[in-house]
This record gives sequence, C-alpha cells and structure tokens, in this order.
Amino acid sequence: MAEEMFLSTSAKPITILPYSRQREVCGARADLALEGPARNGTIIHEGDFFMKTLIIYYSHEGNTDFVAKKIADKIGADTLRLAPVKKYPEKGFAKFFWGGKSAVMAETPDLEPYSIDLASYEQIVFGFPVWASNITPPLRTFIKENPGIKEKRIAAFACQSGAGAEKAFGKLKESIGIDSLAATLILIDPKDKPSDDNDKKIDDFCKKIF
Ligand SMILES: Cc1cc2nc3c(=O)[nH]c(=O)nc-3n(C[C@H](O)[C@H](O)[C@H](O)COP(=O)(O)O)c2cc1C
Repeated sequence: MAEEMFLSTSAKPITILPYSRQREVCGARADLALEGPARNGTIIHEGDFFMKTLIIYYSHEGNTDFVAKKIADKIGADTLRLAPVKKYPEKGFAKFFWGGKSAVMAETPDLEPYSIDLASYEQIVFGFPVWASNITPPLRTFIKENPGIKEKRIAAFACQSGAGAEKAFGKLKESIGIDSLAATLILIDPKDKPSDDNDKKIDDFCKKIF
C-alpha cells in the first residue's frame, strides 16, 4: 500500500495506481501530489491533476523568469517567455519612464515571433512584473493576438518591488475579458530577495494550479 496513492481517472470515480505508474502518467507532477493533497487523504480531481499548463510571461530583469522556471519545474508546465521586438531600456530613468509610459498607455508592442499550440493547454498561468500598477505591455499584445485564451483556466503571478499587483490583476482580467483568476501569487523581487516565505508562497500557488 505504501507505493500506492489515490489518482482520479474522472471527476468522480477514484482508481488507485502504483506510484511508478503515476510517474509514467504524470511525470514530475506525481511528486507534488504526494507532498500535497494526496498525503492528506484528500481526493485529487482529474482537472487538478492532469491539467496541461503553459506559463506565459514577460520578465525585464529576471525576477519573473526566476519564478516562472520554479513553477514550471514543480508542476511540469511548459513556458513561453514573451519578448518585444523593440526592447525597453535597461537602466536608470529611461527604464522607468519608457516602461511606465508604455504600461500606463496600455501599449501593445510587437512581439518576437512565438510558436505555441495553445489548443493543447487547458490552463494558462500569466507571469509579469508590475509596471505602474499595471500588467506589462507584452502580455497585452499576446492577449490581443490570442482572444481564445479566455476559455481556459487562467491563473497569474506578479513580481513587484512595492505595491500595485492587485490592481494589475484587475487590468489582466479586464484585458482577457474574464471575471476571476483561478489563483494568484504576489512576490517582492524574488530573485533579488530570496526567502523561505517566498518558497512557501510558490508552493502554495503550485498546489492551487496543479
Ligand atoms: C517601468 C517599471 C515600473 C515599475 N512599476 C512598479 C510598480 O508600480 N509597483 C511596484 O511595486 N514595482 C514596480 N516596478 C518594479 C518591478 O515590478 C519589480 O522590480 C519586479 O520584481 C521586476 O520583475 P522582473 O525582474 O521580472 O522584470 C517597476 C519597474 C519598472 C521597470
């Protein structure tokens, strides 16, 4: 029995599979399940367990990239890092001025070509740095180019240095055209300020989107 755990094969019936078979079916996700709900005796529903997830993110200075890779690793998700054709300035006043203006004006900058089969994902996780209490413009472009994503389960995480993420989540929902996000996560400059608290928040978020 030690090597077995509950694995749902539909929303209701529960089948017990050997752990080795679970790894075959779920890959990295099996580990998280063992640490999470299954260990506590809670039934895992199919949607939670098998949801194929794509993390779509923009990162200017590496914090969002750092978190996106951690989440992808934990839940076995794919990632798509968006890149604008015209890069935002990297330093000083120009960085805040042009980035902030672009966010406030809700610009949709052209993106470097990306190739992704959105139809094969049930869940999208958006990740972005908060800019002027708003989402970063490359996400706006992606959302405009892919209006069908509103039919998927959508979660989001934001990196910030102070405040504004809640407002930015509102802007994200507005631009997609949805009323709610399945889960949210807010971190303060997580690459530059690593902490156990951040790791726990990331784990909790992963359990919600798993
Ligand atoms: C143009 C610009 C605007 C920003 N606006 C905010 C803001 O409104 N609130 C905040 O807390 N941090 C703000 N920040 C800080 C970033 O959100 C924060 O450092 C984030 O962790 C950076 O993520 P990244 O490394 O993935 O780019 C801003 C940064 C830039 C460059």
